Amino acid sequence: MSLSVDFMGIKLKNPIIVAASPLSGSGSMIRKAIEAGAGAVVTQTITNEVRQNVRPRIAANSFGMQNIELYSNLTLEEWEREIYYVKEKDAAIIANILAHTPSEMAYIAKKVERFGVDAIELGISIPHGEGVELLISDMERLYNLTKMAVDSVSIPVMVKFSPNVSNLTALAHIVEEAGASAISAIDTIRSIIGVDIDRAKVMLPTYGGYSGEGIRPIALAAIASISQAVKIPVSGIGGIENYRNVIEFIMLGASTVQLCTSLIMNGYGRIGEILADLENWLQCKGYSSLEDIRGQALASLKSFEEIPIEPYIAKVKGVCTVDNCSKCVKSCIYGAISLKNDIIVIDDSKCTGCGLCVSLCEKRLLYLDW
Ligand SMILES: Cc1cc2nc3c(=O)[nH]c(=O)nc-3n(C[C@H](O)[C@H](O)[C@H](O)COP(=O)(O)O)c2cc1C
Repeated sequence: MSLSVDFMGIKLKNPIIVAASPLSGSGSMIRKAIEAGAGAVVTQTITNEVRQNVRPRIAANSFGMQNIELYSNLTLEEWEREIYYVKEKDAAIIANILAHTPSEMAYIAKKVERFGVDAIELGISIPHGEGVELLISDMERLYNLTKMAVDSVSIPVMVKFSPNVSNLTALAHIVEEAGASAISAIDTIRSIIGVDIDRAKVMLPTYGGYSGEGIRPIALAAIASISQAVKIPVSGIGGIENYRNVIEFIMLGASTVQLCTSLIMNGYGRIGEILADLENWLQCKGYSSLEDIRGQALASLKSFEEIPIEPYIAKVKGVCTVDNCSKCVKSCIYGAISLKNDIIVIDDSKCTGCGLCVSLCEKRLLYLDW
């Protein structure tokens, strides 16, 4: 069983890419990611100007993480040495770069190509700092920046998308037209993680980007829309924690996936665990490669108008032995579910087939035949 994938014409030993972040902020960090098994690593965003990190800059809650980091602390020139340090390793190196004008973009793109990276990702979607957040939704600037990067180098260029836009598919068409080889999505979501109510202060001193488990549904929707809109490959990012999440993204059309928050929280070792579980699942299901499942779930994704109005109601397929759960009973706003001696009873006259109980049942005892 091979997990290898062809991504932008580059053969990767597996689809797991470490996303642009402090996890890939230097040659030694990138090396750790590669030794942990990553198929590719995207560098932290490289710019022409170096900014010192503000403090504090990261805060987490149970659904994810907000960060207000900007870019790499290393200069463009310093990145030459860092790339050299990891170049001959068994993984592709993708330089994430940010520039505000097409000529600056061309300058940085040419430099990182000369350093020996395999591809470039345009990191133009950070939702905080110096108006960067406006870049991705300005169609003309997006086209010009992408085209300039594409025309200045001979390696593939991928564009990283923000979810903080309303015209995702139009933007996807623009970068495809400008010659991009792939789209990655999503970057973090503009956020305020919380307020310390005893001190009456926000947890981090400015708006930042939210990442992690909580953003996965938004990322999945972005990947499904983009992969249906364009022909170029897509790299799925956002809240990927385990092999099941990897499969979800691939089934919605992604060719590769990128991980950040789950590696920050659990260490690079998580990559090996995911790869082993992924291989095992594919083997058990009888698939021979990831291509077999890519885009498989898209056929079940309908437009709202296509959904038939059928009188489906929830059904039960077992006895509930979970102590102190009753989530199905408590959350049924129609009062259609009751539990009598571990037996779940659905009142057909009250059930409207909304499906909430089905999604809440950890033991999968409830189902809806749609
Ligand atoms: C602390 C931190 C720093 C990040 N730095 C960058 C960066 O330099 N460039 C970039 O394009 N994305 C950056 N990101 C965004 C991630 O690459 C990724 O798009 C996002 O976190 C969603 O993936 P996740 O839910 O797996 O974390 C950063 C994310 C975090 C949490």
